[in-house]
Amino acid sequence: MGITKAVIPVAGRGTRLLPATKSQPKEMLPIGRKPIVQYVVEELAEAGLDNILFVTGRKKRSIEDHFDYNPELGDISPGDNALSHLSMFYIRQANQQGLGDAISYAEKFVGDDSFAVALGDSVIRSGSHSSLLKRMMDIHQMEGAGATVAFMEVDEENVKKYGIAKPKGRAGASFEVEALIEKPLPSEAPSRLAVAARYVFDPVIFEALRRTPAGRKGELEITDAMSTLIKMGRKVIGVKLRKDEHRYDVGGFESYFKAFLDFALEDPEYGYMIRQYMRLKLHEV
Ligand code: G1P
Repeated sequence: MGITKAVIPVAGRGTRLLPATKSQPKEMLPIGRKPIVQYVVEELAEAGLDNILFVTGRKKRSIEDHFDYNPELGDISPGDNALSHLSMFYIRQANQQGLGDAISYAEKFVGDDSFAVALGDSVIRSGSHSSLLKRMMDIHQMEGAGATVAFMEVDEENVKKYGIAKPKGRAGASFEVEALIEKPLPSEAPSRLAVAARYVFDPVIFEALRRTPAGRKGELEITDAMSTLIKMGRKVIGVKLRKDEHRYDVGGFESYFKAFLDFALEDPEYGYMIRQYMRLKLHEV
């Protein structure tokens, strides 16, 4: 059976985006016309993932409101928008004890099914109609993997911001992962292949999470749970982003500004004007 369930963890504090995130979740910041989290939900819907669980926390209620039916804004019936066929569920993480802890809240929702995880602060854009998640789900099922993870190449100075893979042999478009390290120092990093915010898991990941100790920050890391999976004898497969697939991470202001500019420049109605405006501005500096 195909995979239809997805989990979006949105419980992070967003401290790197203060004061913009003082009273609103970072996932609700707009890039171009839509809040970040809407792009994520659209990506999941496009991949056939119709049952979505949000793992939320304090100050995240506006996400629920955003996907609600809103008659004042012209929604005539609960079924009249492009995302209305989706079933959305919400659960609150009690304490912010890491991404692994957040994902562990999905255990009952998932049951015996494999499922996808998409981090709510990262948008994946593709130049073609290929879907990264569909590709990952196909490979996951073909390989009978415990986990299938998206990776992108990053510069050496950025390996400390991500989970980094040690591939088994040469890393092609998809590859087996031998080990993973969360946020290594450049000198400890086994490669420059960084976890790119999309995952597919077999439910065995919950057992791996239970067997995994907290990491350096005292939080339960999903990266460490995948290392446990490998030790349990399950395969972890990496899938590389293609050249035309781009990941926008909205964790800090630099990447947020870049994402906003890219989306504004490509806006079908205003993109042209924004390009002209920017040309003018750039002449001034
Ligand atoms: C999390 C994961 C990390 C991954 C990153 C991708 O880190 O722990 O392995 O590479 O997301 O966005 P965070 O950005 O929450 O610190």
